[in-house]
Amino acid sequence: GFIRGSSPHRCVWVSVLSQDPKLKGGYNAMGFSQGSQFLRAVAQRCPDPPMKNLISVGGQHQGVFGLPRCPGESSHICDWIRKMLNSGAYTDTVQKHLVQAQYWHDPLNDDLYKKHSLFLADINQERVVNETYKKNLMSLNKFVMVKFLQDTMVDPVDSEWFGFYKPGQDKELETLQESAIYTEDRLGLAEMDSAGKLVFLATDGDHLQFTREWFNDNLLPYLR
Ligand SMILES: *[C@@H]1O[C@H](CO)[C@@H](O)[C@H](O)[C@H]1NC(C)=O
Repeated sequence: GFIRGSSPHRCVWVSVLSQDPKLKGGYNAMGFSQGSQFLRAVAQRCPDPPMKNLISVGGQHQGVFGLPRCPGESSHICDWIRKMLNSGAYTDTVQKHLVQAQYWHDPLNDDLYKKHSLFLADINQERVVNETYKKNLMSLNKFVMVKFLQDTMVDPVDSEWFGFYKPGQDKELETLQESAIYTEDRLGLAEMDSAGKLVFLATDGDHLQFTREWFNDNLLPYLR
């Protein structure tokens, strides 16, 4: 759905998990679509119990800029969401109540994004570097990111591998390795990359479209 409750700012459900003796040694987490960036927030904010592998399936780690498959004319909700995102994506009310706004990344208004995006700019360390986030993320064994090569839902699709538009425009893209979060190593991703902890997987298909066989061959090993 489009509208949902807030992101896991507090580690409430994780503390419920941590009561479970089976998870004492850690757990593997797999997120689909926007669930991927929420689980990354969990990895960064809630180290107990420890997450071992984080598997992001079609996640938008640098957010999105555009709603490619939301039909404009026919649907009031799409119109409304667009209007809210264009005019007020970074107002507190919209940030708190519209999930899309939490990962809306407007490269044309980079300063607004950095200043006012409550969720994404925080977990991506755009304002300050929280060493705790960095340390927690770096303690993952593997951070696996799956990109769908024919994805029509996520714009730009490079966000699934932590890439995005270069700041200030919406034509040219940059990879994770070219971006400031990596070159300044604000989140520990460069260090994780050197250590072989980042896994970039690509598959043909639209958003979240994969076969059981592909899943078994490519993702199951990280869940063991
Ligand atoms: C860093 O993140 C941790 C975990 O969410 C939080 O408890 C702490 O207050 C944050 N520190 C700063 C300086 O924002």
